[in-house]
Amino acid sequence: MSPKILIIGACGQIGSELTLNLREKYGENQVIASDIREGDETLMASGPFEILDATNTSALEDVILHYDIDQVYLMAAMLSATAEKFPMKGWQLNMNTLFNVLNLAKDQKIKQIFWPSSIAVFGPSTPKENTPQQTIMEPSTVYGISKQTGERWCEYYHKRYGVDVRSIRYPGLISYKTQPGGGTTDYAIEIFHEALKHKKYTCFLKENTALPMMYMDDAIKATIQIMSAPIEQIKIRSSYNLSAISLTPKKLSEAIKKHLPEFEIDYKPDFRQAIADSWPASIDDSPAKQDWNWKHQFDLEQITEKMIEGLTPKVSIDYDY
Ligand code: SER
Repeated sequence: MSPKILIIGACGQIGSELTLNLREKYGENQVIASDIREGDETLMASGPFEILDATNTSALEDVILHYDIDQVYLMAAMLSATAEKFPMKGWQLNMNTLFNVLNLAKDQKIKQIFWPSSIAVFGPSTPKENTPQQTIMEPSTVYGISKQTGERWCEYYHKRYGVDVRSIRYPGLISYKTQPGGGTTDYAIEIFHEALKHKKYTCFLKENTALPMMYMDDAIKATIQIMSAPIEQIKIRSSYNLSAISLTPKKLSEAIKKHLPEFEIDYKPDFRQAIADSWPASIDDSPAKQDWNWKHQFDLEQITEKMIEGLTPKVSIDYDY
């Protein structure tokens, strides 16, 4: 039987695509989208929607009980760059929503949780290349501290209360359907918008700053795959490393130039450079491969093509015969 699903943060960069994918897989009425504000037309027209502030414990519980929810995907969070500006707000949003959902599972009001972690759990003392699943983790950003702490709590709730919480450490995610907000890896999206609009981009990171990145379709596939995997395959209850490509602004700009030869990039690093410098350049995701058969599909060339195609306005021609 199809699970009844609640998506928190359904209007965000990941949530919006995840909602549509899960509705396709399980049926539109099985998936309740929720956010603190309404989303775009496609999302709003695709199935049930609730305005919900997931830091509000009783409002969240009301929605869970009203729809008889089995699974929660908690996609609401304040990302790295914004959380540096509003540390307490970032911490509270990221942690309170997680505790609310973990406690609902502990009290057996829901059966399964997906909670995203991030490469931000790593810090300046972590080995940068092929960062292993288990290694030194001393995150130096508010966002990273909240994700690292969240991972510890997920594992704790699993061990102590048997909560079925599953998690992935997403790399930077590249997508065109919904704009991201407040991430350090988001230059890799802005660059496409600016390349198509103005043929030039001023990057807030230095040209050789390497970060792990992934196309959104791969991230959605991984999310649905880990949630559908048989329970005995999920051996890590903090969060799984997940990897696709390692990218620098320079490499990405060269890939874009192959499609748009007149494109130009220059560099004006800001406070986000320090955040990027504290994160890995590439990730070793062998446990995800071994435990639940993870494999990414999209490489840099394919991502570039998809982004340019997706962001190029479609001209509709009316033929008169
Ligand atoms: N993409 C996120 C950020 O840049 C990292 O998980 O904040």
